[in-house]
Amino acid sequence: MIYIVYVRPLMKKPTARPTALFVTCASLLLACSQTDKTNTPQTSTTASPATSPSAASASPGGSAAGTSNTIYIGIGVAQTSNVALLGQEQVAGAKIAEKYFNDKGGVDGTPIKLVFQDTGGDEQGAINAFNTLINQDRVVGIVGPSLSQQAFSADPIADRAKVPVLAPSNTAKGIPQIGDYVARVSAPVAVVAPNAVKAALKQNPNIKKVAVFFAQNDAFSKSETETFQTTVKDMGLELATVQKFLTTDTDFQSQATNAINVKPDLIIISGLAADGGNLIKQLRELGYKGVMIGGNGLNTSNIFPVCKALCDGVLIAQAYSPEYSNLINKDFRDAYRAQFKKEPPQFSAQAFTGVQVFVESLKAINSQSKVSQQPLAQLRTNLNQQLLLGKYDTPLGEIYFTPEGEINQKDFYVARIKMEADGTNGKFEFLK
Ligand code: ALA
Repeated sequence: MIYIVYVRPLMKKPTARPTALFVTCASLLLACSQTDKTNTPQTSTTASPATSPSAASASPGGSAAGTSNTIYIGIGVAQTSNVALLGQEQVAGAKIAEKYFNDKGGVDGTPIKLVFQDTGGDEQGAINAFNTLINQDRVVGIVGPSLSQQAFSADPIADRAKVPVLAPSNTAKGIPQIGDYVARVSAPVAVVAPNAVKAALKQNPNIKKVAVFFAQNDAFSKSETETFQTTVKDMGLELATVQKFLTTDTDFQSQATNAINVKPDLIIISGLAADGGNLIKQLRELGYKGVMIGGNGLNTSNIFPVCKALCDGVLIAQAYSPEYSNLINKDFRDAYRAQFKKEPPQFSAQAFTGVQVFVESLKAINSQSKVSQQPLAQLRTNLNQQLLLGKYDTPLGEIYFTPEGEINQKDFYVARIKMEADGTNGKFEFLK
C-alpha cells in the first residue's frame, strides 16, 4: 500500500527536492517499531551534557518524531558571551512561544518542547550546538543562530543533514541562499537599514556629511555597512569617512577621533551590542554632538548599561513594533510585559515568530499525514517544504517566504533611544 504524504508545488532548487514523496506503509512501520523511548530527547537549558537530551546513540531519521508524544524544536542561540546580549532576548521570545502554543494545544494535541543549546558567540560554538541539536537532540528544526557570522558556518551543517533552519536574527545578505533548508524570519539589512537614514534626515534635513563605522570581523556588520553606504550615496549625502573596528574592541579612541575630525552631521554604526555601545559612548565623550544611527546588532536595551545616558537619541531601525495591531501580537506583548515589565524587543518577537512558523507548519503537515507517524528524516524534509508555503499572522505582521526562504514582511519602523538623565533606565520610542 502506498501513502502520498506530501506534495510540494514550490522549491528553492528544483533539482534538490522531490516533487512528491511516496512512503510505503512498511517503511513507516519499520521506523516506528525501531523507536526507543529511552532515546527520546529531553529539554535542556544549557549545553551541559548532564542535562542534554540523551539520544546520542540514535541516528537521526531512525525514529518516528512523535512517538514520544512530544515534538522537539531546537533553539540554538547565544546564551553566553557578548552575543548573549542579543541571545537572551531570543530565549525569552522562544519560551513565550512554547507556552503560548502549548496552551493552545501544541500541534493538534501533541505538545512542543524547545531544546536549547548554547552557541556562544563564535562559529565553533554554533557548529557544536547545531550538531548536538541535529544528531543528539534530534529536533525537527532549528531556530538559530544569533549571528549571521555564525550562520554562514553552522547552517550548511543543518542543510546537509536536511534539517530546516529558521534564522531568527540573521540579517546579512545571502542567508537564505546558504541552502535549501535555510529560511529566515529576520528581514535583511537591505530592506530595514535605509529606514534609519530616512528618519535621520527627517530629524535633521541639514545632514550632509556622514561618517560610517563597521565591525570588519563580522559578516552581518560588513553586509549592513554596504547597505548604509549605498543609501548615503543614493540620498546625495557625502560619505566623508569609513572607519573599521572589531567586535572584540573596547577602545575606539583613534577611529572616533578620525571620524570627528571630518566634522560629520551623521554617524552610522554597524557592529554588535557591547562594541557598538562602547563606540557610541566614546564618540559622545570625545564631543560628537550630531545624529547617530545604530544598526541591527545594537537593537537591544542591553546596550543601555554600556552607553548609559550617552545612548540617548540614537536611531535604530526596527523590524517589529510592540504596537503592531493583531491578536497574536497582543497576546505576545501581554505575556512579555507581564514577565519582564517592559515592551518586547525585536529579537524576542522574531524568535517567537520562528517557533510559530514551525508550529503552524507542523499543524499543516499533520492535517495531511500524522506527524507522529512520520520518521524524523521525513518529517524534517516535509517541515522544510511546508514552511515555505504558508502565510503566517505573527507579531511581526503577516509574513510569508519566497521559494528561496527569504522573508516577505510589510512593515518596518524606526525607534529613538530615550534615556533618563541619570542613565539607569531607557526605552525605545517609536517614531511616527
Ligand atoms: N542581525 C545581526 C546578524 O545578522 C545580529 O548577525
